[in-house]
Amino acid sequence: MKNSTQYQTVRVPLGERSYPIYIGKNLLSSLGRFFHRHRLPKTVLIITDRNVARLYLKIAQRSLVQAGFAVRAIVVPPGEKEKNLRRADAVYSELLRFRIERRSTIVALGGGVVGDLAGFIAATYQRGVNFVQVPTTLLAQVDSSVGGKVGVNHAQGKNMVGAFYQPAFVVADIGTLRTLPDREIVCGVGEVVKYGIITNRKFFSFVDRNLPNILLKEGRVLAHLVSGCCRMKALVVSQDEREDNLRAILNFGHTVGHALEHAGSYRSLKHGEAILLGMIAETFVAYRLGMISSKDAARIEGAILRIPMPRSIGFSFAPSRLIAAMRLDKKVASGKIRLVLPTSVGKVTLPIVVDEKIILEALVYLRAVLLSKALVV
Ligand SMILES: NC(=O)c1ccc[n+]([C@@H]2O[C@H](COP(=O)([O-])OP(=O)(O)OC[C@H]3O[C@@H](n4cnc5c(N)ncnc54)[C@H](O)[C@@H]3O)[C@@H](O)[C@H]2O)c1
Repeated sequence: MKNSTQYQTVRVPLGERSYPIYIGKNLLSSLGRFFHRHRLPKTVLIITDRNVARLYLKIAQRSLVQAGFAVRAIVVPPGEKEKNLRRADAVYSELLRFRIERRSTIVALGGGVVGDLAGFIAATYQRGVNFVQVPTTLLAQVDSSVGGKVGVNHAQGKNMVGAFYQPAFVVADIGTLRTLPDREIVCGVGEVVKYGIITNRKFFSFVDRNLPNILLKEGRVLAHLVSGCCRMKALVVSQDEREDNLRAILNFGHTVGHALEHAGSYRSLKHGEAILLGMIAETFVAYRLGMISSKDAARIEGAILRIPMPRSIGFSFAPSRLIAAMRLDKKVASGKIRLVLPTSVGKVTLPIVVDEKIILEALVYLRAVLLSKALVV
């Protein structure tokens, strides 16, 4: 496969569920060859959203058909509000109408929403069919397509229904990021910055230094980010696939972030933006508890505030209502809110119980930051 397409491979070592992530440019037009290599059955069902279908569905379909696969597609409306059981049910009906059998493969072609929804369907349809991730957003390439967490939201909370279901392989075509709206690149940067903070100070500095090139979607820099993040995630997931321990560090910024998303009804804030803001609040908590130096806390906050974010993130929220939303978070144990806290740039704790009064202080602080800083592009 080296003749027309060049790519790097990152392995996720999980015993018999191990799989490769192929990272490179123009990989979508070689999708069929990856399917051949992995000896997948002849029936393929692509799940994608309307935006991605318009740009990339034909390329993916053509490659698979040319490689001898029978391909069907289901196109769902875009957006987080589609990641629910109602949409999953509509897709199951389509699969049955197409007479898709167990010996088939579901492909998620799109961002994290499509990845989580299609993965959940692959895990549950006829007790599980083969699954392939083809992420097309920066966030999905650096994070959501790797590690096997799939699921949908419930009216009472995000990702409340789901499974661990690993793909057969992941194809991250960096070329697809060229068409990604700037706001979506920023969302991806949210998760990228997170990897630096939780595991790697050098990587954090690289991201901070290269922010202008990232925002310009410079191919080489993006490839470095995707392969770096996938390596870090693979290392964590391979030690703790089902989040009994170490994997929880990937949730840094997410407890506050999920509550913010929920408070904005999944409309005011995108996931990546919510995580960026969540990391500011959770870093404040660490500083307030004397767990991180003021210098490192300021470095984290400074790097996040340099990332251009749109005006809509200045939406108002009531800190006490956010606390109520946080109690619903999956990391809550016996009604107590637990947070992953940074102890330096490159190191975090496992989730620890934090007094709600301090979290409230952090939310008041975050709201003041949002009001005072020009977080506007
Ligand atoms: N499973 C996990 O481990 C995990 C980890 C992190 C986030 N997530 C989930 O991921 C979701 C967010 O994912 P996301 O940020 O990718 O959002 P998304 O899937 O909604 O995609 C963002 C937007 O970009 C469009 N798009 C996608 N690819 C495009 C391309 N190449 N060119 C132009 N437009 C394109 C989509 O249609 C959509 O409108 C959330 O639901 C979050 O919970 C899951």
